[in-house]
Amino acid sequence: MPARIYPSLLAADFAHLADDVARVEPLVDGLHVDVMDGHFVPNISFGLSVIEDLRPHSKLFFDTHLMMNNADFYFEQFKTAGCDMVTVHIEVYPDPAPIAEKARKQGLKFGLTLNPPTPVAAVEPFIELVDNLLVMSVYPGFGGQQFIPETLERVARVRKIVDSHQLGADIQIDGGITPESARMARSAGADVFVAGTAIFQAPDPVEAVAALRAAVED
Ligand code: DX5
Ligand code: ZN
Repeated sequence: MPARIYPSLLAADFAHLADDVARVEPLVDGLHVDVMDGHFVPNISFGLSVIEDLRPHSKLFFDTHLMMNNADFYFEQFKTAGCDMVTVHIEVYPDPAPIAEKARKQGLKFGLTLNPPTPVAAVEPFIELVDNLLVMSVYPGFGGQQFIPETLERVARVRKIVDSHQLGADIQIDGGITPESARMARSAGADVFVAGTAIFQAPDPVEAVAALRAAVED
């Protein structure tokens, strides 16, 4: 699959979200929208009304990463707010089949993600249910953390599983993505690169996207 870049809204200026997104929109492939509940992760980001208000300002695919204990309760509202995909944590939903079904009923694409200590084997049985497999490369909750190098081996294992089942699921990586870590993750088999700090906190976000793009080009 071609490499794609999704900026993470978490690192944008929350007082100027639409402007920050518009600046990079022509250069990127989707927008990563991090929702944190203050329970599953020790941080609170933003919720439905922020997504709803941003929606008319962008045509990007809204890839919603739900760091929440009760994410599925809100699927209908995420759809109404304008989300295109919901990605939930396997740590919250050890049997995600009914949750995938619930998302699809709402017309949402569905993804599963796993934290750094969670074995890849936890998601393997459900690989056919997902559009997106997000391999976290930091402990979720905060932007600006260092990429965990052991993630590369995990990406390679997920790549092998997806390819052996001849599936089209995206393999996404999120956390500490810079041109350097993105290049290594691309070699390991990642398709979608989520970057917050490296894009929105860069002096020139447009140049930052170009640098990431150059790093992951095949
Ligand atoms: C972390 C979030 C990430 C975060 C990445 O919990 O899931 O999407 O925004 O931020 P950076 O790119 O700064 O590591
Ligand atoms: Zn995320």
